[in-house]
Amino acid sequence: MFDFDSIHDRQAWSSTKWVRYQDRDVIPLWIADMDFPVAPAIREALTAYAQHANFGYRSVPRDLPQLLVDDHRRRYGWAVDPRWIVWLPGLVLGLNLAVKACTAPGERVISFSPVYPPFLQAPALQGRQLVDVPLRPTNAAGTVHAIDFDLLEEAVRPAAGADGSVPPATRLLLLCHPHNPIGRVFTRDELERLAAFCERHDLLVCSDEVHCDLILDGQTAHHPFARVMAERSPELLARTITLHGPGKTYNVAGLGIAWAIIPDAMLRRRFRAAMQKLVPDPCACSYSALQAVFTSGESWRQALLAQLRANRDRVSAALERMGLAHSHPEVTYLTWIDARALAAEVGNAAAWFEQHGVGLSDGAEFGRPGYLRLNFAAPRALLDEALQRMENAIAAHRQAAPHASGEPA
Ligand SMILES: Cc1ncc(COP(=O)(O)O)c(C=O)c1O
Repeated sequence: MFDFDSIHDRQAWSSTKWVRYQDRDVIPLWIADMDFPVAPAIREALTAYAQHANFGYRSVPRDLPQLLVDDHRRRYGWAVDPRWIVWLPGLVLGLNLAVKACTAPGERVISFSPVYPPFLQAPALQGRQLVDVPLRPTNAAGTVHAIDFDLLEEAVRPAAGADGSVPPATRLLLLCHPHNPIGRVFTRDELERLAAFCERHDLLVCSDEVHCDLILDGQTAHHPFARVMAERSPELLARTITLHGPGKTYNVAGLGIAWAIIPDAMLRRRFRAAMQKLVPDPCACSYSALQAVFTSGESWRQALLAQLRANRDRVSAALERMGLAHSHPEVTYLTWIDARALAAEVGNAAAWFEQHGVGLSDGAEFGRPGYLRLNFAAPRALLDEALQRMENAIAAHRQAAPHASGEPA
């Protein structure tokens, strides 16, 4: 019913994913951008907007906040007040604004690595200190991760300086929920523990939930962290900023629309003040795309999830054959691969696969050198060709070095 198979020339339109390898025969499976045509409902909405043929300033359409509110109630059982919404042209921007609004210069901000790079970069970019609390591997292969609550307790209270000076306060936790790149949906229990931790240590939380509509089994519920906080105690809602948008689920990151949900009026004012007239409105056409997402996007999303489940399983089977330990993501279209053994033999594994015709993300950017992230949101033929190239490269390498590590027994 929907097209997930045709391969389009995206270089012709300067797709960021594709122009990186403009003059090379490299299949790009790196940045979180899908190689599927957009949902027909979005295409129609954009066409109608283009035909209207006036591209002057555009305000938020009157129906849009209520569509968002209805969507959040239906999908996540969360009653959002439309006054809490701050429209944004992107989410990385929202993370940086949250750091500015929630902390003073020099204060400490917690992130859980490995994580999408802006979670590690935003504190320093805004003159704050990053407190990296590594996620704890919970399986022997090191490809399933959980929050390490013991480490978190230690990290939140820094030791006093040698001269007895008081360390800066830890004020904010940046949560990637669900988590990119480990592909996990945190359990209700983990979220409740985290909410208790935030309450105990007086922390504000910025929860980026942009991947939450890509839970692959279609049954596991997404629990907005703000709702979990509010269920613990209504006043805890005031400590939350939730970031979300259609960019990942509907592959419209290039249209530039997202939002922050900030229930507390004072925090919302601080967030808006941090915008300081430096942040533009979302792109005029993006409002039409978002209306289409809310009113007519669901059947395409369901079809997408089926396609992604099948692609994930193909990737897992191929990585098994290659002897590379990997995540089996519960959410989104990114597989996290432990290529440390391979890297010990070939050097940087991302660069090595690039030389063999496949462009993956380098785990170093996420805080884990030796790991790779593979984006499997691609038409089957393209994905199969990329996986075949990877398998061929590994087979040739093993033939040349038969005792190479990682070889399946
Ligand atoms: C968790 C997360 N947040 C934000 C973004 C990017 O959002 P934007 O393009 O709206 O800045 C991504 C992109 O992959 C992401 O994975």
